[in-house]
Amino acid sequence: MVKVLFVCLGNICRSPTAEGVFAHKLERLGLTDEISIDSAGTGHWHVGKAPDGRAIAAAAGRGYRLEQLRARQAVAGDFALFDYILAMDSDNLAHLQALKPAGFTGHLGLFLEFAGQGAPTSVPDPYYGGDDGFQQVLDLIEAAADGLLVHIQQQQLAQR
Ligand code: 4NP
Repeated sequence: MVKVLFVCLGNICRSPTAEGVFAHKLERLGLTDEISIDSAGTGHWHVGKAPDGRAIAAAAGRGYRLEQLRARQAVAGDFALFDYILAMDSDNLAHLQALKPAGFTGHLGLFLEFAGQGAPTSVPDPYYGGDDGFQQVLDLIEAAADGLLVHIQQQQLAQR
């Protein structure tokens, strides 16, 4: 089982969107027994809350369900549980690097590393913006989700 954690600031916009998009792909491809996912925020403000209504609506427009998700905060213990810890932006990544125990052997990096050539490095925070921001979040996350899936499948094949 490969375990992936998506991390943003609030865990109510970007990382639950990544979780919902990736979950949809795993279900469609029959990979839910091989790859497990979760999401978390570096901040604590929204712990226990459902995703932002704008994120839920934008995702629903493309066939992804987010409303069942609940926010939690990323903790040092996550490094013992996940193989990939993927930050939505460089601030989130810096926070996670400070939290990372010395012995972590998994992959800590930016999610958009998997989005391919020409993609930005960070998913812009849509919280204080308009609906366009949520569409852009989905575009970037869909691209990176496809790249991440290919990467994990290649890694697993290489280990057989
Ligand atoms: P997220 O968006 O990190 O994509 O979940 C945000 C949600 C809440 C806040 C900032 C960003 N906030 O400042 O409360």
